[in-house]
Amino acid sequence: MLAEQELVAEARKLLEAAIIYYRGKPVGTVAAQDAETEALNYDQCFVRDFVSSALVFLMEGKPDIVRNFLVEVLALQRCDRHLDCFKPGQGLMPASFKVASKNGEEYLVADFGEQAIARVAPIDSCFWWLILLRAYVKATGDLALAHQPDVQQGIRLILDLCLEAQFDLFPTLLVPDGSFMIDRRMGVYGYPLEIQALFYAALRTAQELLLSGDPGDAYLQAVETRLGHLSYHIRNYYWLDFQRLNEIYRYQSEEFGETAINKFNLYPDAIPPWLTDWLPDRGGYLAGNLGSGWMDFRFFSLGNLLAILAALTDDQQSQRIMDLIEQRWQDLVGQMPLKICFPALEGQDWQTITGCDPKNIPWSYHNGGNWPVLLWLLVAAEQKTGRTELAHKALQIAAHRLPLDQWPEYYDGRTGRLVGKAARTYQTWTIAGFLVARTLLENPNHLALLSFDADPDVVACTI
Ligand code: GLC
Repeated sequence: MLAEQELVAEARKLLEAAIIYYRGKPVGTVAAQDAETEALNYDQCFVRDFVSSALVFLMEGKPDIVRNFLVEVLALQRCDRHLDCFKPGQGLMPASFKVASKNGEEYLVADFGEQAIARVAPIDSCFWWLILLRAYVKATGDLALAHQPDVQQGIRLILDLCLEAQFDLFPTLLVPDGSFMIDRRMGVYGYPLEIQALFYAALRTAQELLLSGDPGDAYLQAVETRLGHLSYHIRNYYWLDFQRLNEIYRYQSEEFGETAINKFNLYPDAIPPWLTDWLPDRGGYLAGNLGSGWMDFRFFSLGNLLAILAALTDDQQSQRIMDLIEQRWQDLVGQMPLKICFPALEGQDWQTITGCDPKNIPWSYHNGGNWPVLLWLLVAAEQKTGRTELAHKALQIAAHRLPLDQWPEYYDGRTGRLVGKAARTYQTWTIAGFLVARTLLENPNHLALLSFDADPDVVACTI
């Protein structure tokens, strides 16, 4: 018991030490405090990383830092950007920011991906910002912040960015490779699940927080329509279980017109051999991606867990995802919750899809590594689906290893046994993710900060 208290005290102390101050006020947390490795950009506050820290602060009744963060990032959404030919679209929020100073005056410098490796656009930041705004409002009751004109305008700019007409037929959002947590080339361009789940949660948030009237009404109408189409598309076409696999296996291809059953023209030969054995009789998940003639059959954890939390999946599907995690525990949780995606790309696939990325070799980093930050999403989804026995089991594994290994960023190997080859130590979202998971289990009421009820207006699923 004392060990448990010491562990929590250590995690809290480390999180406290990660806080970044701007003009005397706390505004965020650094990505990592690894004293032995060059900081690179890990001394910055990443928007997606800060969500884990923010949840701890909200759950512990310290919302000021979250408010400051929301306000400052909103201001960066509209900052002047001098980026030569790498120009972020209006409405985009930065991947990260840091405090700089000139003549004794502090200012914030944002990175919209123009300084990141391979110039990847952080499409997920604006969605995480919205989801965090909702969590803040829920924790504090400070609806006034969300109703401020600049915040309303910020929400509308995000919607402009993703609801505008595109060269596209699908209700899912078309994005470049590496535009979210997986911020390197990994064959996750097109319509990756994580972006779709974030997009859905962000639209649900906009629906809750946008003021009606002019100009809100037009946006609210567009949001409602898109929500219905998006959930129908994901629930029906991304869903994979053994029955669906068998249907795909027997699909006719090259079908034209409205009566086509194989709508995306998937060829049965594209089913990867590992999948037939791996899919249990009971259990299923949302595929990683779906485009014309292409389904990415890999299991991506964050997208599936977020889909449960946002009620993008229906209740039955959510239970089936949990069944899958339970039955494939060794593959997905193993020796550290949770695998970012399964299985890893190997051989020729690794070469062509990652471009021979040495950081993403098979079963490492984004390519099948285990990321402790995902623990809080796992625990939250388990709590939402009433599977708390699994949540306790996962938390125990993490509590046992993380402090001994100095809270690493990620683990490698098929079961996550090795500390990641290039993992940072004292990674803030690892520390915060552990605290969030623990606090959620102690007080299930906190789940409301992250979770959405089923949307009564969505088109019913037909599986
Ligand atoms: C890596 C991760 C990214 C994270 C960043 C900071 O680039 O891929 O998701 O935000 O590190 O921790």
